[in-house]
Amino acid sequence: MRRIPIMAGNWKMYKTLAETCDFFRKFNPLVAGSTHCEIVICPPFVNLQAAVGATRGTHIETGGQNMFWEKEGAFTGEISGAMLRAVGSKWVLIAHSERRQYFGETNEKARKKILAALDAGLTPVYCVGENLDERQAGATHEVLGTQLSGGVTGLTADQFLKIAIAYEPCWAIGTGKVATPEIAAGAHRFIRDQVRKQFGADAASSCRILYGGSVKPDNIRGLMAQPDIDGALVGGASLDPGSFASIVNF
Ligand code: PGA
Repeated sequence: MRRIPIMAGNWKMYKTLAETCDFFRKFNPLVAGSTHCEIVICPPFVNLQAAVGATRGTHIETGGQNMFWEKEGAFTGEISGAMLRAVGSKWVLIAHSERRQYFGETNEKARKKILAALDAGLTPVYCVGENLDERQAGATHEVLGTQLSGGVTGLTADQFLKIAIAYEPCWAIGTGKVATPEIAAGAHRFIRDQVRKQFGADAASSCRILYGGSVKPDNIRGLMAQPDIDGALVGGASLDPGSFASIVNF
């Protein structure tokens, strides 16, 4: 089965409104012909509407970096899936490792968010990945297996078909230490095997698994040459229109 790659930019807590508009002015023409993949930019919430406006008429899509699982209510500081959808976004990152590390995200919270995102008509990108200690202790598969099953337990195979997974080893995020294509491919194969066990062969062969962690224009080709890597979740290198366009157009 041919899986259409997803090239997603995670801007984290970077860029003002003016910088957001400036980015798209430069980025849009650079990817106007890049129909080989889906392109997604996840800016800070306050810039989503501007990003949606700046990408209208292009095939660039936008997403949130997080959301809450309730539909509405007294949850100060939170954003619902319906709000993301209403602003014109179609995607949402769930359980990015920085949310796990600094904001108490757990597999169980992620599971609720994934279900709520699907309910709102969003495509959740569920982030998993081991930290350096876990890798050095030989616990990578155990960690990935627990995160994966914890986040997607209770989903039907049909629901699972609507989500994407991002494998992001924490030791590679923002460090400049990209996983070698072989290390990344090994983790992606393991994740796909787990998906096969939990949701069956069709789900496994159609599930898109992105790699994230120090993806740059000069390492994207090696990563994308691996058959189990279906795209990238890019932090730092997605902030510059030229470098993210080079990644998209690998
Ligand atoms: P990085 O971040 O590309 O800056 O390593 C990736 C991510 O956190 O999604």
